[in-house]
Amino acid sequence: MAHSKPAGPVQLSFLLFFLMATVEMHRGSSSSSERTVEMRGRKVLENDLVISPPMGWNSWNHFKCDITEKLIMETADAMVSTGLASLGYQYINLDDCWGAFNRDSRGNLQPNSSTFPSGIKALADYVHAKGLKLGIYGDAGNRTCTLRIPGSLGNELRDARTFALWGIDYLKYDNCNNLGKSPKKRYKKMGKALKYAGRNIFFSICEWGREHPATWAPMVGNSWRTTDDIHDDWDSMTDCADQNDKWASFAGPGGWNDPDMLEVGNGGMKTEEYRSHFSIWSLSKAPLIIGCDVRNMSHETFEILSNAEVIAVNQDKLGIQGKKVKGSRDLEVWSGLLSDEKVAIVLWNRLSSPKPITAYWSDIGLHPSTIVDARDLWTHSTISSVKGQLTAIVNAHDCKMYVLTPLK
Ligand code: GLA
Repeated sequence: MAHSKPAGPVQLSFLLFFLMATVEMHRGSSSSSERTVEMRGRKVLENDLVISPPMGWNSWNHFKCDITEKLIMETADAMVSTGLASLGYQYINLDDCWGAFNRDSRGNLQPNSSTFPSGIKALADYVHAKGLKLGIYGDAGNRTCTLRIPGSLGNELRDARTFALWGIDYLKYDNCNNLGKSPKKRYKKMGKALKYAGRNIFFSICEWGREHPATWAPMVGNSWRTTDDIHDDWDSMTDCADQNDKWASFAGPGGWNDPDMLEVGNGGMKTEEYRSHFSIWSLSKAPLIIGCDVRNMSHETFEILSNAEVIAVNQDKLGIQGKKVKGSRDLEVWSGLLSDEKVAIVLWNRLSSPKPITAYWSDIGLHPSTIVDARDLWTHSTISSVKGQLTAIVNAHDCKMYVLTPLK
């Protein structure tokens, strides 16, 4: 039996890793500051996964617990064959329900053997061979939210190491069954464990905005949820947008506010509403994590998710989160600065009939005499030499999105 054998070299090196990492983890606050880096005046986590918001796909919004390795492989295939992968959507992320109800005899996490019979390492190999990355889901408590598979509280080092050995590139770390302990401490522990796991793993903090993560999570992870779960309806989507907006000034290269994953293509909203959803998430520098069945997308869904001009706003190298500058739950103007002195704006009609909406230069940080070319990112046409303000008629629940380029 495995446990009665003398320890081999692999087991010894694992033990050594554990001891060293445990000592490091208990060193206290000095080691936490060693792993942060100053970026534009704020301290953020030091790993290489900081440049622009992550893009990819996650199983939860569409499939909930109905996931198998076959589905994940077909999704990876579809991400490539549809062209979404080459637009930047690189992470293929498992959510809850991938795991077995119990740890294995050594105490390690293990996949559900009937739905993931080949194991997670084989799945990661498959996904990596397509040029994509594999994400997984864990929990900063003792069981996950829905299927109650084991969480990682108290097992952070062991589980981070398992994820690294499997070839995982992204961890979404949820907040259920947390024994009432402070998120700050629980997430910090996993953040450190990932550092010692020997692989660059994007750390997506999912504590639902409970302890104002924007104020502490930049030093712990790469993104943090600012809201409760999104649902595939207009009210939920607009609420997530508004709640996330409050934390705009805390985001930037090094760490992103996360208003939850995209519902585009799941059927609960109209095309105009999904266009608004995608535009606002992009302007807000949110992670663009697709949540529909990409194997069977409609043309409208693909048109939204594949809009390269809108994606470019999200991925702009300045990394400034655009925000609402005018209006409240009615006729709104959102805007954000881009690199090369460009400005992105979204005119968003949240009322139920078509209305004109005007962005005045004074609202969006431009001098009133500035002349710009306005590129309409949804019609892919340009309005030349616009001065002082821009007005458009916007359909109910729809938006117009522009990039304004000042003329020299
Ligand atoms: C929580 C998270 C969701 C999803 C489910 C899975 O509710 O916030 O995004 O991961 O758990 O159980």
